[in-house]
Formats: sequence, C-alpha cells, structure tokens
Amino acid sequence: MFKDQVAIVTGAASGIGAATAHLLAKRRAIVVLVDRNQDGLKRTAVMVKEAGSTAVIHQSDVTSEDDAARIAKEVTTEFGRIDVLATCAGIGIPGGKTVLTHSAEDWHRVYQVNVMGTVHWMKAALPTMIEAGQGAIVTVASQLAFNSGGGAAAYIASKGAIVSLTKTSAVDFAKQGVRINAVAPAVIDTAMSRSSREGSNDPEAMQAWRLSRHPVGRIGEVDEVAKAICYLAGDDASFVTGTVLMVDGGWTAA
Ligand SMILES: NC(=O)c1ccc[n+]([C@@H]2O[C@H](COP(=O)([O-])OP(=O)(O)OC[C@H]3O[C@@H](n4cnc5c(N)ncnc54)[C@H](O)[C@@H]3O)[C@@H](O)[C@H]2O)c1
Repeated sequence: MFKDQVAIVTGAASGIGAATAHLLAKRRAIVVLVDRNQDGLKRTAVMVKEAGSTAVIHQSDVTSEDDAARIAKEVTTEFGRIDVLATCAGIGIPGGKTVLTHSAEDWHRVYQVNVMGTVHWMKAALPTMIEAGQGAIVTVASQLAFNSGGGAAAYIASKGAIVSLTKTSAVDFAKQGVRINAVAPAVIDTAMSRSSREGSNDPEAMQAWRLSRHPVGRIGEVDEVAKAICYLAGDDASFVTGTVLMVDGGWTAA
C-alpha cells in the first residue's frame, strides 16, 4: 500500500508512534523514525526491519525547528520524496491541573512539544510534498479536545490547537495536493496513559472511570490508532482532508 513511499513518524520510539511506524513498514513504506529517545528508536527500527522494510533513525527533539528542517532536507536528498508525515510525539502534564494550578512553564512546555513540535514538522515536510504535488500529513489530537474529562487544561487545550491547526492547514494546502487530517484517540494503553493513571490520587478509581467512559467497555490499543493513521495517510483516504477521525471506542458519541 505504501510501497516505495517515504514516511516520517515523530514520537516513533514508543506507543502510538512506534505502532504507526511498524504498520507503515508492514505496508512497505521506508520509515524515518524521529524521537528524543534513542533506545526506543533502536527498538522500533528492529521492528521495522523485521517487517521487511528500511528504517532511518534520527534522534531529535521535536521542539527544534532547525532539526526538523535539517532532517527533512536530508530525507529529501537521500530518497527524493516525503509521502507521509505522522506527528505522534507528544507529552502530558500529570496532576489533574486547571488554569488555577498550572504554571506558565506547564503551558509553555506542553505547547512547545505538542503544538510547535507539530508545526515545525509540518513546515519541514510541506515543501517537498508541495513540490511533488502530493503528500499526506496525519496529526494526533485527542478525544479530550471534544469531550473533556477535566483536570488537564494545558494538555487538552494543546490538543484543541492541533484540531484547528489541522483543519486550517488542510484548507491552506489542499490545492497543492497535500491532505492533512488528525486522529483523536480516547484512552490508549501506552506509557503516557499508564503514567497519568499511576500519578493520579486514586489509580483504581481512575481506571474504573476511564472504562466507564468508553461504551465499548475497554481502552484502546496502539495498533487500533496506527490503523486509523495509516488509513488517513493512504490512498483509501484520497478525498479526505481537514477531518478529525475519532478513535475513541464511542466516548464522544455517548
Ligand atoms: N495514550 C493515550 O491515551 C492518548 C490519547 C490521546 C492522544 N494521545 C496522543 O498520542 C501521542 C502519542 O502518545 P503515546 O500515548 O503513544 O505516548 P508515549 O509516551 O508512549 O509516546 C510519546 C513519544 O513521544 C516522544 N516525545 C515526547 N516529547 C518529545 C520531544 N520533545 N521530542 C521528540 N520526541 C518526543 C517520547 O519520547 C515518546 O516516544 C501524543 O501526542 C499523545 O498526546 C495519546
């Protein structure tokens, strides 16, 4: 499905990003893995190679605009194309905080990683896609941007920003052949969701609350988000742009 295509995945060392890189590799893409966690990158690269594809590792912090520009340029020089960008790198701010209890540093940090990390990578990949007259970008928002659980104001607002950024950029680049969409997962079993549960006052109560929010009666798996990302990144979604695909076990419908 992605044969001979080049896909860049940020946040590829773990969780949703690692699963997305793995699935893209199974579907024959050359995968460029970007993350700040070198050990995790190596683990994902092994999965990509075992899937029979090529992995290129770049240890980098997505808050660096210069790094994103340099890496995208290197990828373009080496392979001549960037077909897919999936921006999966992201952080949460644990602790059940609100606008009253978040520090200015909380807001700055979460926006730098979640929002500007996405902006820098879109800006880095778009010129090559526009030049080719085709490309697909998939960002990672959150179900919480639509139906908030409360208690994570900076994180949830950053995901709202991703939704707006995705929609408006889809309009900006539609005529150049670049489709831009988002996935909005509910709770997915990853290091991030486990650490926010364990960091809560009552992890058992939080787990019970989470299960109660998903009509399907369980939280999601990383592969289920990876499949949604690959759908939006691939030709099956050729007429889909500026949309947000809920991957939420029914949370927002309930
Ligand atoms: N897990 C969930 O329940 C859930 C739900 C909705 C949205 N999301 C979003 O999915 C995305 C992936 O999260 P995940 O759950 O797979 O978490 P994760 O912690 O398993 O993976 C996040 C990855 O991003 C990387 N990363 C973080 N900051 C970075 C930076 N500054 N530069 C480079 N890499 C950085 C981490 O090293 C890690 O490999 C995030 O944007 C998250 O907000 C997750």
